[in-house]
Amino acid sequence: MNPLSMPPRLLMGPGPITVDPRVLQAMSTQLVGQYDPTMTAAMNEVMELYRGVFRTANEQTFLVDGTSRAGIEAALVSLLEPGDRVLVPVFGRFGHLLVEIAQRCGAEVHTLHRSWGEVFDPAEIETALQQVQPKVLAIVQGDTSTTMCQPLAEIGALCRAHGVISYVDATASLGGNHFVTDDWGIDVVTAGLQKCLGGPSGSAPITLSPVAVAMINARKHIEAGIATDSDTPSGSRIASNYFVLAQIMDYWGPRRLNHHTEATSLLYAARECARLLLDEGLDAAVARHGLHGTAMLEGLRGLGLTPFGDPTHKMTNVAAVHIPDGVDGEKVRTALLDDFGIEIGMSFGPLAGKVWRVGTMAYNARKDAVLTTLAALEQVLRSEGATVTAGGGVGAAREVYA
Ligand SMILES: Cc1ncc(COP(=O)(O)O)c(C=O)c1O
Repeated sequence: MNPLSMPPRLLMGPGPITVDPRVLQAMSTQLVGQYDPTMTAAMNEVMELYRGVFRTANEQTFLVDGTSRAGIEAALVSLLEPGDRVLVPVFGRFGHLLVEIAQRCGAEVHTLHRSWGEVFDPAEIETALQQVQPKVLAIVQGDTSTTMCQPLAEIGALCRAHGVISYVDATASLGGNHFVTDDWGIDVVTAGLQKCLGGPSGSAPITLSPVAVAMINARKHIEAGIATDSDTPSGSRIASNYFVLAQIMDYWGPRRLNHHTEATSLLYAARECARLLLDEGLDAAVARHGLHGTAMLEGLRGLGLTPFGDPTHKMTNVAAVHIPDGVDGEKVRTALLDDFGIEIGMSFGPLAGKVWRVGTMAYNARKDAVLTTLAALEQVLRSEGATVTAGGGVGAAREVYA
């Protein structure tokens, strides 16, 4: 068999995106042993870097190995006991994912629903918190399936006022949309690398407030073979061995208690993603995503396409537009990929086959990537029989940059 050889692509979908070359370079760093002092020092650096990314003072800020849903599952299976009530406001596919995972944890799941393309008013969430009195509120910040960004500034405080633990899935939004864990009073947040953090999927940063940590540690059972006489099991044992945050915290903490073997190359990637983001500055990175996201949206409008969803609550880093009547959305995507090496996305559920999703995130939140995508899309749309304004996409985007 030939050595691996993949074509160059410009990934302009909802994620994964083209990995920043500096992250790829970090990933090719040779491994060191699991408890080599240089490895444990790198783990401590990762914890410190992600405190910066999440804007938190939480001691328990580390990586869960696995894609973003590993972080979600670790958080929920560690927080929820069978029979616990959880409230999930659903405004897209990833809200449904939170419901699905919470159900698998045996929780009593209560939901609120919004049409795809809309977000919740915090007052609706507060009313539901009062009615349901859940142990946990689980909500997505940026749901890439609809490209909507749920306002969260009041949610943590509302939860604390009602004695509820708040969990946020910030996989698709962190780094490109404003997020302040401590100022918003959010207890648990998880993310992934493959969106605004500019890395590959496979590592899920997580942060846990002291209250969440205490709740998780109240159900700590160290597995046989590594437990000592002083490790007295407490509470009901969680159903997962891999996602047992109580043990994973002991692996990342001073005890360095063996759990899994850390995915070292992913840790190198996660470290570089956070380092680059903090080097740029969180506010500057959000502003950059805002600029290029606006340029892309205006460019898509300039081509004659109609944006989907509530424009005031759009994520900075991904735009959805209606596929024009009579145009085969999949054929357009294929032609973009085959002729230009550019990938854009479709969506799911009620939006399957109805919208394209075009991302501008992390390494690809760049003027040249935006303009090239719009120029290519114009050609492909024309060849698929759509009515497009000649030069309208690139022209409108360039006006945003002027
Ligand atoms: C908001 C959100 N949550 C969760 C996920 C799942 O992430 P992963 O595929 O890395 O497990 C995604 C992926 O697109 C996402 O956008």
